[in-house]
Amino acid sequence: MELHTPTCQCGEETEEARRARVAEIIDEFHAQPDNLIQILHLVQGIYGYLPLDVQQFIAERMDLPLSEIYGVSTFYSFFSTEPRGEYTIRVCMGTACYVRGSTKILKRLSEMLDVAVGSTTKDRKFTLEVMRCMGACGLAPAVSVNGEVIPQVNPDKLNRILEMCS
Ligand code: FES
Repeated sequence: MELHTPTCQCGEETEEARRARVAEIIDEFHAQPDNLIQILHLVQGIYGYLPLDVQQFIAERMDLPLSEIYGVSTFYSFFSTEPRGEYTIRVCMGTACYVRGSTKILKRLSEMLDVAVGSTTKDRKFTLEVMRCMGACGLAPAVSVNGEVIPQVNPDKLNRILEMCS
């Protein structure tokens, strides 16, 4: 699928152009409710998350109730209805990691980034989340940054992890 996107002179895509892309995606999938998850994936790729006004636009164009779009957007963990940071840091709270101190790591990260768990920093650089076992129990406690697993994390290692994201 090839999409042509007009941009404003500063090079940043205008909201009008983004909406045109959303409309193209919906049309490409024939506005079929069965394709809603794929459509939402692609739209999230445009905005980085699923803003409520865009959900409304999708609902109208697909002739579906907003509650259905919202329900799907909030049910699946891979969708976000809030702006996300450039880096998503997830602290594993599975049993092995918990036993080895992941709570301290989470607390320290929250302090260092000045952000609550489940939220994004004001500069939109980091989103801090928790997750269940990420399958690296032998390397507990583990943290992931944009999906890359970092093993045997301790509070002293956190500065280096954040520096990697600079
Ligand atoms: S419990 Fe953390 S990786 Fe398994």
